Amino acid sequence: MTLEITQRYAKSLSPSGARPTDAPEWIDAIDNPYLHGVFAPVTAPRADHTCAIEGELPKDLSGAYFRNGPNNRFAPKNRYHWFDGDGLVHGVWFEDGRARYRSRYVSTDGAAIETERGEAVWPGVLGPFDFSLPLGPIKDTANTDLLFLDDRVVALWYESGRAYTLDPRTLETVPATARIEGLPRRISAHSKVDPHTGDFVFFNYGNEAPFMQYGVLRPDGELHLTDITLPGPRRPHDLGLTPRYSVLHDFPVFFDEALFAKTGKRIPLFHPDVPTRYGVVPRFGGDADVKWFECEPCYMLHVVNCWEDGDKVVMIGCRTSDPTLRPDPRDGKIAAMLSGLKLQANLYRWTFDLATGAVEEGPLDDENAEFPMIHDRWIGQQNRWAYLSRIPYEIPATFDGLLKYDLASGDVASRYDYAPGVFGSEAAFAPRDGGTEEDDGYLVTIATDTNDWTSACLVFDAKDLTSGPRARVRLPGRVPAGFHSTFVAGRGWY
Ligand SMILES: [Fe+2]
Repeated sequence: MTLEITQRYAKSLSPSGARPTDAPEWIDAIDNPYLHGVFAPVTAPRADHTCAIEGELPKDLSGAYFRNGPNNRFAPKNRYHWFDGDGLVHGVWFEDGRARYRSRYVSTDGAAIETERGEAVWPGVLGPFDFSLPLGPIKDTANTDLLFLDDRVVALWYESGRAYTLDPRTLETVPATARIEGLPRRISAHSKVDPHTGDFVFFNYGNEAPFMQYGVLRPDGELHLTDITLPGPRRPHDLGLTPRYSVLHDFPVFFDEALFAKTGKRIPLFHPDVPTRYGVVPRFGGDADVKWFECEPCYMLHVVNCWEDGDKVVMIGCRTSDPTLRPDPRDGKIAAMLSGLKLQANLYRWTFDLATGAVEEGPLDDENAEFPMIHDRWIGQQNRWAYLSRIPYEIPATFDGLLKYDLASGDVASRYDYAPGVFGSEAAFAPRDGGTEEDDGYLVTIATDTNDWTSACLVFDAKDLTSGPRARVRLPGRVPAGFHSTFVAGRGWY
């Protein structure tokens, strides 16, 4: 069949037009660019593999890089959205100059039902929704983010779902620890662990009241949970964290409820006449303690970092000034989805004055960059360095370069452009064994070459991206484009 829409977005396909050989056959019948090219799922996870290395893998790089992402097992039941795929986690473990790779699906409740039936049961986020399905109208895929808590890798879902726990050596889904078991059933993907106190700070959101909950799970298992009043269902994606405060997000991007009632479609629309609101709440505060700041209308997926400066809270994030959907009618029923993935985001700073209620805001740079990562030890503390992926607007949801930002000036201190046809993953900072400076370590990512469908884990010196990777860890198979990553530092995980 002719894949007209897919070909329109074909720059992420192999320049030769070759199809990845390890993709399932069912993709060939579906005209959707997020099932093809660098996005095509692989047919199966990979077993343990000791990797060949080009260059020299630093011996003081110890720990594991984990990356989550969508990888559908079965042909979709309805229109496919890139966010729908089953969570497949890729892991690369490092110790003493060696590297090992394996991948594993997150064993979600929904995946168990679909595996038993041998087919997709749920439609994706594009609907139409069937509220009579088991576990709800949308499958919790746990495909979005990863964090490390209680010696477990925790896989989370952006729509707010269960915290699935994985063994950090095998990536097998294992029972949660007693503390994690105490979390609410629904947790948003971008929860955060305070590196200094061990507090797990989270939020969730949904289409029915309460439209947001905010919570903290203490190291001793004590749970602080509070409902947050919002004007209606909203689409927050992340939160900010400082030692004393959290920053909650209320963007003017929400569904048209009348359209949903009429058509069953939930299309998030930008309302440029409605201000963005950020709510600064004491870490253990409640709804009445939230101090809301009205800001210029926008949307933002990811916070880079937050910190306190006296009575002020500073937040740096990747802000989309105009998230208006501009669907191309040639893209038919998936036009809104495709336009929604054309992200134009740039580094931006807000300063919230808790004493006066004033807010200052403005851009730090204008390059289209997202998926920010910092040295985890600086979460909540004023830091200087952030590592972002550059996104080519014309090839949505791919990363064609790495940028190291100086947050003090907004300057790009160092950058690396992938070769043509090569696309990276969210790059995580890996501290050097014994390192103390903020950028004393490595930047680790997985890149896939659409010229020959090989994938490699790249290790850069975080002080100098421009020189290119110090080592390329050859992976045994292709890794599709994905979402978020994390690096778990330390020896003993290999
Ligand atoms: Fe995200």
